[in-house]
Amino acid sequence: MAKSKVWVEPSNTQEQKDICFAIRQEVFVEGQNVPPHEEWDDLDQNDAICPHFIAWTQDESGNNIPIGTARLWLHTPESSKAQRVAVLDLWRGHGVGRALMDALEEFTWKTGRTTVVLGAQTQAIPFYQKLGYQVYGPEYLDAGIPHRDMKKER
Ligand SMILES: CC(C)(COP(=O)(O)OP(=O)(O)OC[C@H]1O[C@@H](n2cnc3c(N)ncnc32)[C@H](O)[C@@H]1OP(=O)(O)O)[C@@H](O)C(=O)NCCC(=O)NCCS
Repeated sequence: MAKSKVWVEPSNTQEQKDICFAIRQEVFVEGQNVPPHEEWDDLDQNDAICPHFIAWTQDESGNNIPIGTARLWLHTPESSKAQRVAVLDLWRGHGVGRALMDALEEFTWKTGRTTVVLGAQTQAIPFYQKLGYQVYGPEYLDAGIPHRDMKKER
């Protein structure tokens, strides 16, 4: 597939949130066998403290196509938590995940927060390390998948 420009925007409507949820369904529930009751939670409906984001590109006809998503839990006055970072399979390895994380970080810094934390699947740790995140704490299981906590300071 030809790769073109990628940009990231907050999801401001229910229609856009549904796009985020469809990508998560494909990537996590179907792609990684995450149980639905672990994938979906109350934060998904609380936009004030947990905004969602979509990564977009354009097809050859100029139509906008959603190719990735993430959400950002504004969970303390000092820090946010990047969650549900997901890029559609065909689009991995082309900077979409980086663009999503850049948007989450920019949003975080604009709120005055100085730290982004996340729980990384161990297979994704090298991706987050490339973006400047550092591992801390022991490995643990979440939705049956091994994770480590990571963080990045502004
Ligand atoms: C993890 C994920 C979000 C990465 O998104 P992506 O769009 O493929 O990543 P990018 O293309 O932006 O990669 C940015 C950099 O990280 C590197 N990278 C990405 N995934 C990597 C991996 N698994 N191992 C090592 N390096 C990786 C890229 O090579 C790139 O390096 P470069 O800048 O030197 O070229 C994506 O693979 C995904 O959605 N996976 C399934 C869901 C998932 O596991 N989410 C994370 C849950 S914690």
